[in-house]
Amino acid sequence: MAAPEAQGSAVTDESLNVVITGGAGFIGTRLAAEILSRGSVGPAGTASRPVARLTLVDQAAPAGRLSQDPRVAVCQGDLVAALEAGAGPLADADVVFHLAAAVSAECERDFDLGMRANVTGTQAVLAACRRAGRTPVVVFASSLAVFGGTDSHPLPAVVTDSTLPVPQSSYGTQKLIGEQFVADYTRKGFIQGRSVRLMTVAVRPGRPNGAASGFLSGVIREPLAGLRANAPVPADTAVALSSPARAVEGLLCAAEAAPRRWGDPTAVNLPSVTVTVGEMVRTLERVAGPAVSSLVGWEPDEAIAAIVRSWPARFATTRAATLGLGPDDGFEAIVRAYLRDTAG
Ligand SMILES: NC(=O)c1ccc[n+]([C@@H]2O[C@H](COP(=O)([O-])OP(=O)(O)OC[C@H]3O[C@@H](n4cnc5c(N)ncnc54)[C@H](O)[C@@H]3O)[C@@H](O)[C@H]2O)c1
Repeated sequence: MAAPEAQGSAVTDESLNVVITGGAGFIGTRLAAEILSRGSVGPAGTASRPVARLTLVDQAAPAGRLSQDPRVAVCQGDLVAALEAGAGPLADADVVFHLAAAVSAECERDFDLGMRANVTGTQAVLAACRRAGRTPVVVFASSLAVFGGTDSHPLPAVVTDSTLPVPQSSYGTQKLIGEQFVADYTRKGFIQGRSVRLMTVAVRPGRPNGAASGFLSGVIREPLAGLRANAPVPADTAVALSSPARAVEGLLCAAEAAPRRWGDPTAVNLPSVTVTVGEMVRTLERVAGPAVSSLVGWEPDEAIAAIVRSWPARFATTRAATLGLGPDDGFEAIVRAYLRDTAG
């Protein structure tokens, strides 16, 4: 990993140094844009301070429009390797959003990749924050994949804030381990940690990724681009979705909420809209017409279906509501937001 190429202003006592790991990814890019547009962050209930430096750490290059901002520094390379050599970009961080991760289907296919990116990587981030000794606010992007059901611990019809996480995938297990690390580092006073469980975020633009949930974006994105897409699960499969904007709002709320308001360091389930895959395709038809929705095929893929079936689809997100976080206004609003974001 190259040394950060800070292009801009020095960090003063009054200003903040914010780091986003996974800052070139889908959500990291949007989070970075939102932070730059707001211009300031009030960590853990303290007064809002201007962001002097926003460091994007990722093995991929960040979006060009972000790296042109003078407040942005880029650290491109493998996070684990960089942090093994020292605290690097985390040495003077006030707020860290830890989003870098290998995604669900990748982790199922390649156990070692998932362990390295999601367990060793999270451990390395937390250890670097501890070594730096600044007790930064660390927001960890966990996932609804921490939930699942077994014969002796079946998934309840509605997941609440106190539902026991029983992950049924390597990815879900790695995310739950990350949450526990964040909670323990917080209890020890090394960081001010907050974990949020993101729902499946749609509609993801660009190319399909390695997530088992990837088709939930694909069945909207590809037909809107005139391409065929496949729904590998039965039409009555229910899923919990949120827009990228709601995910970013949840991450920023986690960074800014005062400690008493945030509550204990267990993870917060972010709000979601529940929809079946059949309803998603019918919504596409309402928004874009039958010629577009007919581009969705229904070829089953049992490997994907098994992962998606193991995830909950209905949540009662009381704790998020007390933090002022609510769901999108239905799936159609999510599709229309995607169309607005990608227009022009
Ligand atoms: N998108 C979703 O639906 C969703 C749902 C639940 C949780 N999450 C979590 O939210 C976070 C962001 O998700 P996303 O959709 O933006 O994912 P993404 O795949 O678009 O972005 C993740 C980024 O992390 C980077 N990365 C992975 N391993 C790395 C390493 N070892 N070193 C440096 N960079 C590395 C990747 O290059 C990528 O740019 C992830 O932690 C993900 O697990 C996402």
